[in-house]
Parts: sequence; C-alpha cells; structure tokens
Amino acid sequence: MKPKILVARRVFPEIIEALRGRFDVEFNDDDRPWPPEELVRRLQGKSGAMATVMDKFDEPVLAQCADLKVIANIAVGHNNIDVPACTKRGIKVTNTPGVLDNTTADLTWSLLMAAARRIAEGDAWKIAFGVQYFLGQDVHHATLGIIGMGRIGQAIARRATGFDMRVLYHNRSRLLEDTERRLNATWVERDRLLAESDFVVVMAPYSSATHHLIGAREIAMMKPTAILVNSARGGVVDDAALVAALKEKRIAGAGLDVFEGEPRINPEYIGLANVVLTPHIGSASRATRLTMCRTAADNMAAVLEGREPRNPVN
Ligand code: DGY
Repeated sequence: MKPKILVARRVFPEIIEALRGRFDVEFNDDDRPWPPEELVRRLQGKSGAMATVMDKFDEPVLAQCADLKVIANIAVGHNNIDVPACTKRGIKVTNTPGVLDNTTADLTWSLLMAAARRIAEGDAWKIAFGVQYFLGQDVHHATLGIIGMGRIGQAIARRATGFDMRVLYHNRSRLLEDTERRLNATWVERDRLLAESDFVVVMAPYSSATHHLIGAREIAMMKPTAILVNSARGGVVDDAALVAALKEKRIAGAGLDVFEGEPRINPEYIGLANVVLTPHIGSASRATRLTMCRTAADNMAAVLEGREPRNPVN
C-alpha cells in the first residue's frame, strides 16, 4: 500500500501527478488555507504533509495527528511550523533553501524601485507628463541598508552594484571579510543603518527574537525620505507602527510583500498612496515555485522512504 500524504494547498497539477506515482495523495484544490479543524481531519492517517507558509502546524494540530512523520514546507521560512514540538513528536520538518534566493531578491528590488519611483501611483494615473508629477527618490548612488544578510540579503546586495549604491548591512554574525569586499557591503550597528540608509530592506527570518524588529522606535530613526521594504516575514515589522508613520509621512514610503497575520492584511494599508503591496510573491516565478514544490516533494519522499532528506530543519 502506498503511504498516504496530504498536500495542504493548491500546487501545480504536474506535482500532484508526480506524487501520485509514489503516494496515495489527497490535496487542497484551493488557494485558501484550511481552518485548523479541517486540516486535522484531513491529516488523519497521513504520514506526510506538504505545506506552505500559511498552513499552521502548531502543537494543538500536531497533537491530533498521530500518523504524521514529515512536514515538507514549500518555503525556506518555517515559522508556520512549531519545529520543537515536531522534534518532540518525532516528526521531521524540511524546507526549500537556496532555490529561491535570486527570485526573492528580484521581487525585493521590484518593490524598492516601485516605491522609490511611485510606479503604482503612476500606473493608476495614466495621463501625460508634468514637471512635478510623482517625484520620487533616486535609487542610484543612494545608501541601501540590509537587515539580515543571509543568502537572499546577499543576492539583494549584489544587485546594488549596478546602481552604484553604498551598501550597509546588519546581521547577528558578520560576513567573512572576503564576502564583504565582494559585495562591497559594510557591517554597521542596526541603529546606524536605520539612520543612514535611504532604503532599508528587512530580510530577517521571523522568530520571537525578530518579532517587531522594526517598530515605532526604529521607524523614528529613519530619514523622512527613506523607504522601508519587507519581503521577509510579516511580524518582523510592526504593521500598526508602519501604518502610523506612512499616514503621517514620517518616512517617504514602503514596499511590502508580507504582513502580520497573513493571509489577512491590515486594512489601514489599503488606499495609502505611499505604500506598494504585493501578496507574498517573493518566490513567485513559475520556475522557482515549481522547483520549490519539487524540492519539498523530494524531501517528503526521502523521509517516507527511510532516507535522509536533502533539506532537514530538525
Ligand atoms: C519562503 O520561502 O519562505 C517564502 O516566503 C515563500 O514564498
């Protein structure tokens, strides 16, 4: 008998087809996450689950899924899963690092450029030139500050070279000198980065340590002409504090791909002209999302077939 698995969110038909060769597959054919009680019900008898960033596997869910052996997250971030609780229950967690760095860096730059040059506002306007229409911020020769300099942060820094930017970064651990030189990036304290950057890009993973890493105090340190970009995780930025700052024009703008409490979005963002919003599409190129799904499927298969997965989290 094939092992039973659950795919908790709509993925590509070719992924489901491939999974069917090895597993007895049940899948969500919708883009909305199942509520916890439905997720639990569907997980009964399943030994594997493929999940996305909005499918919550917390202790109450895990406690009701005695057969579960592996959760393969279709994401590099895994804050939707209580990993210590999984470890305690002998459930393996895997993720998809490395395959989405450039795609996410591209999207981060799109948000930065769109907010800097007011692209969304201009697109909505659709009439001809005015000398003072939609005046934005120059990107070239500006200072880019990156908070969280992992693989994606570094991919963002590499792209700054073409814009002749000064790059500052803050990370718990400093990069090797060689890497800093190659990226032309300088490590600074977080407060200095906030005060000196024209563009502050947040790339830190979400955890209790990074909850509201950027809040009212940090936003107050930014230049009034600065732009904040977050394509990491909601919750790393305090949405209420950012909404207040944008409303009072204490910073020039923001570009956001992620929000606290996704898939919901703070309704106060809607209608603000100085923020560009996208629905968590950092890794959403067709090629990358397919690769992420294949990687997650391979990781799940490895665990269920008794092999070490390529991307273990625990
Ligand atoms: C990730 O991989 O963590 C992304 O946010 C998913 O798109």
